[in-house]
Amino acid sequence: MDLVPADLRATVRANFKGALIWCGAYDLERANQDLQDGKADLIAFGKPFISNPDLIERLKQNVALAQPDFNTLYTPDEKGYTDYPAAV
Ligand SMILES: Cc1cc2nc3c(=O)[nH]c(=O)nc-3n(C[C@H](O)[C@H](O)[C@H](O)COP(=O)(O)O)c2cc1C
Repeated sequence: MDLVPADLRATVRANFKGALIWCGAYDLERANQDLQDGKADLIAFGKPFISNPDLIERLKQNVALAQPDFNTLYTPDEKGYTDYPAAV
């Protein structure tokens, strides 16, 4: 799923001279593909890091990712932010 239209991404890439970081619904495969294709210098992960505190290890070891609970996102306390278990 690509949240930002490809033509907009290309326009930003062509005109912005700094390090370009994209984020938004990335998985490892699409992140690596965009980096290989030169579409970005870095890819950021947001929600996957919330629901997978061990995200890096899971990606390295090809462990399935936990999905975030949207009922506890954008809420004022820590529930749903710091209580997801590590799997690795
Ligand atoms: C709980 C939460 C809070 C966020 N707060 C901000 C924010 O304050 N400013 C901002 O630019 N983006 C904010 N974002 C958006 C993220 O920076 C990012 O664009 C979005 O989560 C898409 O990346 P992802 O699919 O990897 O989560 C927030 C996202 C989440 C889930």
